[in-house]
Amino acid sequence: MDQTVIITNNLAQELSDQIDRLNPDSVFLLTDTNTRNLCLPSLITDGTLASYPVIEIPAGDEHKNLQSIAIVWEYLSSHGATRKSMLINIGGGMTTDMGGFAASTFKRGIHYINIPTTLLGAVDAAVGGKTGINFNGLKNEIGVIQSADAVILYATFFRTLDRKNLLSGYAEMVKHALLKSEEEWKAVIGFDFDNIDYNLLGDLTQRSIAVKEAIVAQDPTEQNIRKALNLGHTFGHAFESFSFTSEQPILHGFAVAFGLVCEIYLSRKKLGFPAPVVSQLVRLVKEHYGVLHYSCKNYDALYELMTHDKKNDRSGINFTLLAGIGNIHINQHATKEEIFEAFDFLADCLSI
Ligand SMILES: NC(=O)c1ccc[n+]([C@@H]2O[C@H](COP(=O)([O-])OP(=O)(O)OC[C@H]3O[C@@H](n4cnc5c(N)ncnc54)[C@H](O)[C@@H]3O)[C@@H](O)[C@H]2O)c1
Ligand SMILES: [Zn+2]
Repeated sequence: MDQTVIITNNLAQELSDQIDRLNPDSVFLLTDTNTRNLCLPSLITDGTLASYPVIEIPAGDEHKNLQSIAIVWEYLSSHGATRKSMLINIGGGMTTDMGGFAASTFKRGIHYINIPTTLLGAVDAAVGGKTGINFNGLKNEIGVIQSADAVILYATFFRTLDRKNLLSGYAEMVKHALLKSEEEWKAVIGFDFDNIDYNLLGDLTQRSIAVKEAIVAQDPTEQNIRKALNLGHTFGHAFESFSFTSEQPILHGFAVAFGLVCEIYLSRKKLGFPAPVVSQLVRLVKEHYGVLHYSCKNYDALYELMTHDKKNDRSGINFTLLAGIGNIHINQHATKEEIFEAFDFLADCLSI
């Protein structure tokens, strides 16, 4: 897996350099309806970049589907794209997941570059090579692992993100920090959302990407250590799916934040994860992520959702837990009683 991740203040120049390096015979740009207006103008400042055709798909995760893929394939096919062409995905995780899949399958795979425009996209979706679409009512049901030829990070894009989308990405940064080190943890939890320093956010994003990259490089196809990146996600995916059945759907990162509290609770109980860090995490999640609406009446339904997690094995629901910050234990299991205790713990923390 060879993925160049570059942070830049001069997006147009960097993109031109990458295009020169990869030397495609034609270039196509992919945006969603929002990133076409908000982000594309910063990119097409020079004549050459402005001359590339733009494929636009509707914004929203409900459009990460076969229909959007067909729009991209159809456009490429009818506008002379060849095996040497290139697709440049400019958008959040929806666009980079979908565009990455379209590029990886068109003529058995063409070059593609990701330019993530959301914090979640930057720290997570755009790096690591997982691409795909939702299908048959299931998230990321169809896809391939194929890294982008380059990921170009331009932190100025984060300035137009609303608070909810910033926090959604921040939850993945919190996760990466827990997987990495005390130093990373302190830097990430110290970030001040009341007085956002976008330069600092760019630096922290770059560091967070490095944590993910280092793990993915050891295990691109998720046979072992890449499972560490699932921290917070076994509970998190259940909360996310559960929220979709309620009146108040939550963004992915919010579900991950609540999932982290539950999995760090299990980490403390089973592996002695330090109590002061549990308290710090609880304080952070309470302060930023508000409340998740559930009660003990929902525990069976939540548990049932967890039993469908893709990562489960014959021994049951599979977790990544921590014995301390950076002390990762993959392939952990918990009993139903322990899982219900973790639901109780989160409910107590959030005072629901
Ligand atoms: N491939 C992976 O490893 C991986 C990892 C995590 C998440 N994902 C996927 O990523 C997706 C979620 O990512 P997301 O939260 O970026 O979703 P998204 O791409 O839908 O973006 C969220 C919203 O922000 C808008 N937006 C994008 N850039 C903006 C900007 N600069 N300013 C203002 N608005 C902007 C989008 O148009 C959209 O409305 C999901 O489909 C998830 O499955 C993939
Ligand atoms: Zn995630």
